[in-house]
Amino acid sequence: MEKIIDENKQGQPLILDQKKENQRKLFIESYGCQMNFSDSEIVASILAKEGFNTTQDLEDADLVLVNTCSIREKAEQTVRKRLEKYNAVKKINPRMKVGVLGCMAERLKSKFLEEEKIVDLVVGPDAYKDLPNLIEEVDAGRNAVNVILSKEETYGDISPVRLQSNGVSAFVSITRGCDNMCTFCVVPFTRGRERSRDPQSILEEIDELVAQNFKEVTLLGQNVDSYLWYGGGLKKDFEKASDFQKATAVNFAKLLDMVAEKHPKLRLRFTTSNPQDMTLDVINVMAKHQNICKYIHLPIQSGSDRILKEMNRLHTRQEYFDLIDNIKSIIPECAISQDIITGFPTETEEDHQDTLSLMEYVKYEYGFMFAYSERPGTLAARKMVDDVPEDIKKRRLAEVIELQRKHSEYRHQAFVGKTVEILIEKESKKSDAHWSGRTTQNTVAVFPKGEYKIGDFVMVHIDECTSATLLGEAVGYSDNN
Ligand code: SAH
Ligand code: F3S
Repeated sequence: MEKIIDENKQGQPLILDQKKENQRKLFIESYGCQMNFSDSEIVASILAKEGFNTTQDLEDADLVLVNTCSIREKAEQTVRKRLEKYNAVKKINPRMKVGVLGCMAERLKSKFLEEEKIVDLVVGPDAYKDLPNLIEEVDAGRNAVNVILSKEETYGDISPVRLQSNGVSAFVSITRGCDNMCTFCVVPFTRGRERSRDPQSILEEIDELVAQNFKEVTLLGQNVDSYLWYGGGLKKDFEKASDFQKATAVNFAKLLDMVAEKHPKLRLRFTTSNPQDMTLDVINVMAKHQNICKYIHLPIQSGSDRILKEMNRLHTRQEYFDLIDNIKSIIPECAISQDIITGFPTETEEDHQDTLSLMEYVKYEYGFMFAYSERPGTLAARKMVDDVPEDIKKRRLAEVIELQRKHSEYRHQAFVGKTVEILIEKESKKSDAHWSGRTTQNTVAVFPKGEYKIGDFVMVHIDECTSATLLGEAVGYSDNN
């Protein structure tokens, strides 16, 4: 097999096994969660072995793949708009084939082919290894679909091609699927049952990243705290495992401890944590290792006990407060962010006030806030009426966003006058004379470039802030370099 050398965006050499003589060009883009972006890197790796090189130029592509999101209706509309764009490009470039990957592919299956004539290929999130066969079908002039969800697939054996990476931070998937069945959420239907990846393959992928000089890794899963490796298989089948498998099982706290211990200079992050699955062990491991970032994304969705129950979030408001109190007492400097949904079916003004008062208690660093969007097939869609009028959902959302803006400003203000460690990730979007990086708390900081370069850990004195960004000046390298 001939080897070719390619270059990714940072100019780092990337060695690809080339199977086919003629290089074909792959344009791949991703919408939605970080898992989709990470999956696209797996897809690029699978197709590199088939002779596909990635291109940034849509008009030049032989194959266009779009990794899609179904989480809200708007996310699906965005993808439909992109398909219109591909349609226009196909008029100039008729050889171009179009494939849809990810959650919309899984949700709509072969219906996609009927609804969108431009689409040649529909591939669900667990079927990417079948892409070479599916592309052969398409080459032979037939449409191809594979949306089979798997009990095993974790892509643990595939080394992702780091697409558009800054060469500093990378994502590593550790679990796939979700068993939680929150009543509003389409993910369990599009990504299947929860399974965890072999810790050995996770450690190997991270070793490789460290060897390539990456400085930060984010462990990814729909529900990372639920990670459980007992030799393979679905999380729900753990009860049936042998005594030996149970005794040697690796949970999330253990995995985090192993990675942090092995690479003490690597910054470690993880997302997402579901409050019902987060343990004190995880918080203690975070406190034990300086290199585990002091930041937890801890979606709450609603501050009302009644709504939490309707959402099938398996914890109460009080249990959430207890978790927050534990985090803050074990790691006082820990930042916390939220996801909140406004206007879930039956949400009253009083429920909404409960959400606002919960926010007042926690004072999140920042958050991701959404108006409820009914998703076909979910329990909420089947059993509940989407009865909160759109204007009320929007008004409540605006109130939540405004309160969050105040809290972000309050949290950021606390950094002013302090000197904090920043990992430099990229040039600031607003000025080519400034670097942009993040604190351990995940807050973005911007400062004049000076002698420093991307990938350096620097100490930055924070002079001022906005609700989104800290502004400061570098005062020297940190000990972590
Ligand atoms: N696994 C994560 C969430 C994944 S989806 C967790 O543990 O919570 C990301 C966020 O999208 C959710 O936290 C929720 O706030 C939002 N979301 C999901 N379904 C939604 C819907 N139907 N309407 C509006 N927002 C939704
Ligand atoms: Fe969705 Fe709830 Fe899982 S929000 S991804 S079903 S934890």
